[in-house]
Amino acid sequence: MDRYAVIGNPISHSKSPRIHGLFAAQTGQTLVYEALLGPLDAFAATVQAFRAAGGRGLNVTVPFKLEAFDLADHHTPRARAAGAVNTLAFGSDGILGDNTDGAGILRDITINQGCPVEGRRVLLLGAGGAARGTVLPLLEAAPATLVIANRTASKAAELAEEFSSAGLMPPLGCGFAELAGQRFDVIINATSASLSDAAPDLPVGLYAPGSLAYDMMYGRGDTPFMRAARAQGAAHLCDGLGMLVEQAAESFQLWRGIRPETAPVLAQLRASL
Ligand code: ATR
Repeated sequence: MDRYAVIGNPISHSKSPRIHGLFAAQTGQTLVYEALLGPLDAFAATVQAFRAAGGRGLNVTVPFKLEAFDLADHHTPRARAAGAVNTLAFGSDGILGDNTDGAGILRDITINQGCPVEGRRVLLLGAGGAARGTVLPLLEAAPATLVIANRTASKAAELAEEFSSAGLMPPLGCGFAELAGQRFDVIINATSASLSDAAPDLPVGLYAPGSLAYDMMYGRGDTPFMRAARAQGAAHLCDGLGMLVEQAAESFQLWRGIRPETAPVLAQLRASL
């Protein structure tokens, strides 16, 4: 039986085995998908042992996405842009590293939420790994503007600069205070503020009529970011559960060559949150 797993530390909370199990049942694919606890000092050895035991591919989560990037022999363009890998595929010509996170959030926003990005004003909050993985897919969706804003403004400026020569519309980078007076149609929280039950300290008045507030966090109910967005007039609020399911579907497609339907899987997960 073809073996897959998600590797992380910690890992027992992961929903990926359930998601991929539902995908496999839905598409009639015969496979096993497990959760693998990666020792902090032995990521590469654990991956190689899994591969040697017949593993076909891995999802990679916190804190190993950079190590997975280093371990891969080849990278997809979107993994190179993200500088991090969340999907490994083992082939006869080595290990392919991909990153499906950005594509996942784009599909969740545009398809599941029905919110187009093309021609819209988009604000991405944060300049860490989660934000970085989202920049290229967002730019490829051709927004009118993409502003990257971060608590530490210099990091946002550096991240924007990195993508200024991608051959797409260059993003702008700034601190939160410089956002005052601007309005956005889509605001994505890619900071880790929700983890400490905080919200990015944003100026008021950023939400345009009909706008979407998207928090990459899930499983915590309304986050402080979402509560602030509602108070500021955001028309739609969304957590990151759909992104989780969509990035999984992208990985499943890479491995199995078949794209599962995500809507019924997302509905099942949502029902059991
Ligand atoms: P991740 O991989 O989740 O992106 P990270 O690389 O550690 O994690 O980045 C965390 C991001 O969340 C950073 O952009 C950080 O801002 P700074 O660069 O200024 O540190 C942001 N962040 C964390 N806590 C925050 C808070 N309370 N308010 C605003 N931004 C916050």
